[in-house]
Amino acid sequence: MQPRTLQIGPLTSRFNQRMAGEHGAVALWQQDDAVRFLEAHGADFDILVTSARFGCTRAQLDLLPNLRAICSFGVGYDAIAVDEARRRGIQVSYTPDVLNDCVADLAMGLVIDCARRISAADRFVRAGLWPAGNYPLARKVSGKRLGIVGLGRIGKDVARRAGGFDMQVRYHNRRPDAAIPDGFEPDLLALARWADFLVLSCPGGAATHHLISAPVLDALGPEGILINVARGSVVDEEALVAALLEGRLGGAGLDVFEAEPRVPEALFALDNVVLAPHIGSGTEETRLQMEELVFANLRAFLDKGEVLTPVV
Ligand code: DGY
Repeated sequence: MQPRTLQIGPLTSRFNQRMAGEHGAVALWQQDDAVRFLEAHGADFDILVTSARFGCTRAQLDLLPNLRAICSFGVGYDAIAVDEARRRGIQVSYTPDVLNDCVADLAMGLVIDCARRISAADRFVRAGLWPAGNYPLARKVSGKRLGIVGLGRIGKDVARRAGGFDMQVRYHNRRPDAAIPDGFEPDLLALARWADFLVLSCPGGAATHHLISAPVLDALGPEGILINVARGSVVDEEALVAALLEGRLGGAGLDVFEAEPRVPEALFALDNVVLAPHIGSGTEETRLQMEELVFANLRAFLDKGEVLTPVV
């Protein structure tokens, strides 16, 4: 029998159409009641197509007893029950590497925007305030100290870009990267105390939940700037909002939030905060490469029984 594919949530219309056209994928989000549909038809599907955002829970796996592969669009897999999938012998693929440039670009963009206050200055000009006086002085970026939490593929690309700004770079990982012993800081608080900018590029999930707590934010301090292009769950958002409102943290550039797309309204009024709607990989070029990699994974699984870029 021809393997059957289920797509859990909508991506671009091009992606959805290709998935339906090339693989006859059934769109779960178009069913009246997704759970009822899975209860009735879940056993028909061999392959699940999902994304970092839509994920796949253990409860959904229970309703897909014959699943053999999950092909996900995105590099984060904290929303996928990967351990459970592995236990059931289900292969899980994701789309690493192709989005490194764009996420690292955005991290640097947020660094520059927060320090130089580009977005806030834009609001100042648009509000017609310039004729009444000059915009207040901001903070320099070049030559400053940049700490990276999570020196994986994206973190390394942030470090390379920071080199172009003559920045000093240190990083915090669970273990030092054998290839980059210099700059490893085992103590996150010490890294936060040292850094002018603390960039988060670590995975989400239980191991990093609220890693950036009130003491870390206090260590970064009233001159320090937090940049999050990782996951909202990495930061204790309540503590972050309090630190910003009380002036204990200098600023923040945030692409991800704990309950996105909901963003704490208290942040809307703060000019030292730059807010982005999870656009790290959101360029035409990168999203197309991610799409191609999902299709390549699916094709490899169908042809050879093995996905190309498995979550390991
Ligand atoms: C990912 O791929 O995990 C990103 O966060 C999505 O933009």
